[in-house]
Amino acid sequence: MALRHFLTLKDLSKDELLQIIERGITLKREQRKGNIYEPLKNRVLALIFEKSSTRTRVSFESGMAQFGGSSLFLSPRDTQLGRGEPIEDSARVLSRMVDAITIRTFEHKKLETFAAHSSVPVINALTDDFHPCQLLADMQTYHEHRGSIEGKKVVWVGDGNNMCNSFINAASLLNFELVVTCPDGYDPNSSLLQQHSDRVHIEREPEKAVTGADLVVTDVWASMGQEEEQQARLRAFTNYQVSPQLMSLANNDALFMHCLPAHRGEEISEDMLDHSSSVVWDEAENRLHAQKALLEFLLCNA
Ligand code: CP
Ligand code: NVA
Repeated sequence: MALRHFLTLKDLSKDELLQIIERGITLKREQRKGNIYEPLKNRVLALIFEKSSTRTRVSFESGMAQFGGSSLFLSPRDTQLGRGEPIEDSARVLSRMVDAITIRTFEHKKLETFAAHSSVPVINALTDDFHPCQLLADMQTYHEHRGSIEGKKVVWVGDGNNMCNSFINAASLLNFELVVTCPDGYDPNSSLLQQHSDRVHIEREPEKAVTGADLVVTDVWASMGQEEEQQARLRAFTNYQVSPQLMSLANNDALFMHCLPAHRGEEISEDMLDHSSSVVWDEAENRLHAQKALLEFLLCNA
């Protein structure tokens, strides 16, 4: 297979995405049985993180260890990246030493530039615009609990952020309806919305949006890098909290997801993570299994 990157979900075809979801489910079962499987023995994954992370870092590091390989955590504080070495040069050098590179950064363009100069697969571990690894886990979680998501109604409540943009890509690949309910001024990427207007639409009223939903998803109101907007955002999003009351308008078997970390009392009520519809802990665990399936896909088919 030619060199493949994973910068957005759109780097996969529908069939490849479904294959990774199924493989994640299988790898999870094998892991639980205690079966050792080490397809990445002696392979190295570099992890460049310019923003904080718990789940993404730990799932990639654990996944590489379970696969018999190893990982290197590289913070800009300790590398020449933080002292201004051009990313083009960093990409050329690192990719001569490791087998794959994950990057969490701010501008999506920076990730694209890095990938353009890398000779090994580059994986988006979150940018300001997209968080595709989280969607692998979210789609695996839906499939595990409810089967195919095709034709279902998914409602995104809150900020039209990186997660929301990735849900738009998922809706287009997996053929589900996505309703985004957010205050005016906080819409997702407008060209993505336009491009996928057959699958996605905006509904400003959260109660109307959630009615009849099969899956309700939210995320923080202020993402990493938007800390100074926190107060203004708290005011703008007041009516967009997901609570058991809002959830009661969804279908009886609807699921609730949140990529975490969550701010109880803001985008979710205090009790929402423990609600009977909530699958957030499975969703978090599935980061591990889904990304192992991704690593296998990118590195073992080469
Ligand atoms: N959901 C997610 O990406 O979590 P982290 O920021 O902890 O990696
Ligand atoms: N939208 C959030 C997701 C965190 C996993 C952020 O970018 O901070």
